[in-house]
Amino acid sequence: MSNNKTHHPSFSRRNFLTAASSAVVFNSIAVASGAARSISSSNDFAQNFQELPDNFIYLNSGTEGTMPQIVLENYKNNLYQWASNPTFSYELDPILGKHQHINRTRVAKFLNVKKNNICLTDNTTMGLSMTLMGLNFSSSDKVIMTNHEHNAISGPLQLLHDRMGLKVITRNFPPSKQLALMNETELLDVLLPDSKELRGAKALCVSHVYPTTGVRLPLKALRTKVQKLGIKYLIVDGAQAMGMIDISRGADHIAHCDFYACPGHKWLNGPPSTGILYIKNAHIKPPEFYPTLSQRMGKYSGCEQGTDCHFPMTEALQVRGCSNATGFAAMTDAMTFINNAGGASQVEKYILILAGKMKSFLLQKSPLSLISPSKSNSLLTGITAFFPFSWHNPHKIFKDKKTASHVVSTLLKKNIQIRYIGFHDGKNDEVYALRVSTALFNDDQQLKKFQHELKKVLQSI
Ligand SMILES: Cc1ncc(COP(=O)(O)O)c(C=O)c1O
Repeated sequence: MSNNKTHHPSFSRRNFLTAASSAVVFNSIAVASGAARSISSSNDFAQNFQELPDNFIYLNSGTEGTMPQIVLENYKNNLYQWASNPTFSYELDPILGKHQHINRTRVAKFLNVKKNNICLTDNTTMGLSMTLMGLNFSSSDKVIMTNHEHNAISGPLQLLHDRMGLKVITRNFPPSKQLALMNETELLDVLLPDSKELRGAKALCVSHVYPTTGVRLPLKALRTKVQKLGIKYLIVDGAQAMGMIDISRGADHIAHCDFYACPGHKWLNGPPSTGILYIKNAHIKPPEFYPTLSQRMGKYSGCEQGTDCHFPMTEALQVRGCSNATGFAAMTDAMTFINNAGGASQVEKYILILAGKMKSFLLQKSPLSLISPSKSNSLLTGITAFFPFSWHNPHKIFKDKKTASHVVSTLLKKNIQIRYIGFHDGKNDEVYALRVSTALFNDDQQLKKFQHELKKVLQSI
């Protein structure tokens, strides 16, 4: 890949608007332009992602995002500030200091929750580990997950199973050819039927958006399921949702969950090693929940014996030695950036429109290849997963690793980055699919170029 640093972004604000072709998006960007001036003096919103080289089409935010200039600039300044006065920065600085009150408040505002519901973490994995290792499970408890969980969920559950006998029930997703056509109710009824096995589980541990198939599980519907089945905790892995969909309100508000862990470094386009853990019960304490990574464990001494303990759990989890405060501050700039783009719901709309175009392209040529749902609005996301297929014979689908890997590496030679991903399709062996992430910084022109190059690779397999 050539790394051409001349900054002539291959997309423009106009493209952003054209691709969205939505008056609502247009108005929001127009309204936001005053605030956007601090991001770009040229008032060209999309040009703020300048570090991706001109001729590089990056379609892999599901693995890592990039960063807009304002985030990079502030991140760099935070580091300089820290270096110039380290002890003050760590102990007392209101933005960089160990308590993180200001950054937690900013994140809480972005997510429409309270500061004491928020702990800033290094990543999703850390938030889920704090949650699953902190909850006081017993050997008679059962918890539910699916066969598509990332090991950020399945790993700790496996460990708890091995260490103390926690019963882990794994529910299989329907096979991809069914999934693609399902709506929300059909999917949730197959995944989480009202059965004796599931009723009364201690926790349901699922992902908000699946990195395998790109399906979204709407949080409100999950909450209804959890209530119906008498499950105590809804624990959600939001790695692929934050920054892609609006998790601050409505059917996908994180407040529907008991615990929600997500990153700042993927779709949100914040710095590496940034993440968020949301805890609904700000007063949770031992023996229900223990802070397993904290310099404030001592604050809960005696709680189990009935001593009144009021120290906020998210603050205990926040104060854990020197952490990525410079990154956390810059992550809040990524949130401001989204607000200036019209807000999280407008960004979601834009991303879904681009992803919709990708899905239509596949449906027209090879409907059998598409794995991600395309029929039901509430299941849609910015991830499009599909199997490689023969362009000349579109019924011929490939599910092996070699073909998927070949498509990815051939596209990378053309400066287009997507990825392949393995998963269990229903009860079957592992299959390999292609995964395209259409993000805020992508546009129609890039999508067309990608489709053109994809066609060429598929003509040759
Ligand atoms: C569903 C899911 N969970 C967790 C992770 C790990 O994310 P993080 O690096 O933020 O821990 C990923 C990464 O791709 C993911 O897709």
